[in-house]
Amino acid sequence: MEMSDVNDYILAHSDNEGALLSALNRDANVNLLYPRMLSGHLQGRILKMFCRMLRPKRVLEIGTYTAYATLCMAEGMEEGTKIHTIEINDEMEDFIQKYVSQSPHREKIEVHYGDAMEIIPKLGGTFDMVFIDANKRFYSAYYDLVFPMVRPGGLILADNTLWDGKVTEEHVPSADKQTLGILAFNDKIKADERVEKVILPLRDGLTMIWKK
Ligand SMILES: C[S@@+](CC[C@H](N)C(=O)[O-])C[C@H]1O[C@@H](n2cnc3c(N)ncnc32)[C@H](O)[C@@H]1O
Repeated sequence: MEMSDVNDYILAHSDNEGALLSALNRDANVNLLYPRMLSGHLQGRILKMFCRMLRPKRVLEIGTYTAYATLCMAEGMEEGTKIHTIEINDEMEDFIQKYVSQSPHREKIEVHYGDAMEIIPKLGGTFDMVFIDANKRFYSAYYDLVFPMVRPGGLILADNTLWDGKVTEEHVPSADKQTLGILAFNDKIKADERVEKVILPLRDGLTMIWKK
């Protein structure tokens, strides 16, 4: 059995992503430069399921892109809760608004445009769940910044932590700052005794980090 057959089977026997997300996905594939960056059907359903299970009241997403994952997490969150999501590229604003405004969960979503490193301290308060999915070079910096704002028992998720398998390459060129950023992050998380951690081999690697 081919891996793509297995993937098709998994999707056929999991929840559908729904009409809005499937339209977003198509729109991104036709009109955006890097549609592969969005979480997609399987990871989206998993993010929603995390929210169903953890029932977070306040979530932070670092790196909105199309808001695909934002919409999935909002779907799994209860009424009266809030997901803050930060996107540095304000050219994404029209795309994001087009889909967030059509979602029945839009009241739960607050999109911030700008650099996460500047916006996060201004948000204040504590988060029950954080999804790190922005510039791979700065994962460790996002983590250090956000860590004190995560409540004990809260969950940090970090996407792309296997980085297309490049994390296992013997020699990583010094110019490849993204791979080096992910490697440094993975080592840092492994050594951090304040958290329990496991890398899920899902899509491009999704690390679950639970704050003690
Ligand atoms: C992988 S995409 C996010 C995908 C989205 N979370 C999803 O799962 O569908 C990464 C996004 O992070 C944004 N980004 C990069 N650096 C950032 C920063 N310092 N602050 C906020 N957003 C940033 C990029 O512009 C890009 O849109």
